[in-house]
Amino acid sequence: MVGMGDKEGADQAAVDAMRLMLDTVRMDGVVVIGEGEKDEAPMLYNGENIGDGSPPAVDIAVDPLEGTTLAAKGMPRALAVIALSERGTMFDPGPCVYMEKIAGARDIADLLDLDRPLGETVRLIAERRGRDVRDVMVVMLDRDRHHDAIDEIRQSGARIQLIPHGDVSAALLAVSDNSPVDILWGVGGTPEGVISAAAVKCIGGQLLGRLWPRDEAERQAALDAGYDLERVLSADELVAGENCFFSATGVTDGDVLQGVRYVGTGGATTDSLVMRSRSGTVRRVQATHDRAKLRAITGGRTG
Ligand code: FBP
Repeated sequence: MVGMGDKEGADQAAVDAMRLMLDTVRMDGVVVIGEGEKDEAPMLYNGENIGDGSPPAVDIAVDPLEGTTLAAKGMPRALAVIALSERGTMFDPGPCVYMEKIAGARDIADLLDLDRPLGETVRLIAERRGRDVRDVMVVMLDRDRHHDAIDEIRQSGARIQLIPHGDVSAALLAVSDNSPVDILWGVGGTPEGVISAAAVKCIGGQLLGRLWPRDEAERQAALDAGYDLERVLSADELVAGENCFFSATGVTDGDVLQGVRYVGTGGATTDSLVMRSRSGTVRRVQATHDRAKLRAITGGRTG
């Protein structure tokens, strides 16, 4: 589906494949963050039970295709991602679609702040990293709502890498060692914020998030549901479990992961990050696949 211009079709293919494999996993999983409400998402809907029902009991956040437009347009950084943590430990974003986020690596984690002016934060980061502020790079989604922040950062002298989509990939980049970007900042999807928080708990660093209602109706719905819109949530609050897992596989090439490559007539390779917060182990899994065998196992539904 990459480059075929059909983002819904690409998303559906990813959902079908992920759902199929999740059914084979021994767990008692509940989708906390999925493809939406039951009536609009036939599979991986919020509240759906997945796995074979045996322990462990886990919360699951899925984004089978993070960056649907990226995949449909054949652009970099589309991922397939999933995060798991102990039952009841994942933040449920309720009616809020967006969240303001800031993320960075371990050495600057204490400098991240959603209330301090961004110009000041980038200056503090430059000082901590022993660099000129002109060498600080902020990655953010290219959106009109970021206009003021872009001005503020540029006035401070720092640089901005604007991306069209895919802030999970950007969060992974921001917390990685030897990264070309120093921090991720911006208003992006709340589900992506929770999923990124799981990754940050495994890799280290920090991600802070604050719900960002799009309009008055959404603000009121969140308040009615008991959400505190002023509250800044840390990665440990977004995913409170002590034993969370995160996995991301590249769909299209990106700066963190290589995308799927088709090899010869019947093969493919994939590149994944698989990690766990309790041990802090981060595995890079480079896999080769036999598409004919996969098709046989899945009854032709993947591969
Ligand atoms: P999709 O995979 O659902 O298309 O989301 C891509 C994405 O760019 C996320 O990475 C990001 O958090 C969110 O959309 C931003 O939303 P919007 O495009 O509405 O600004």
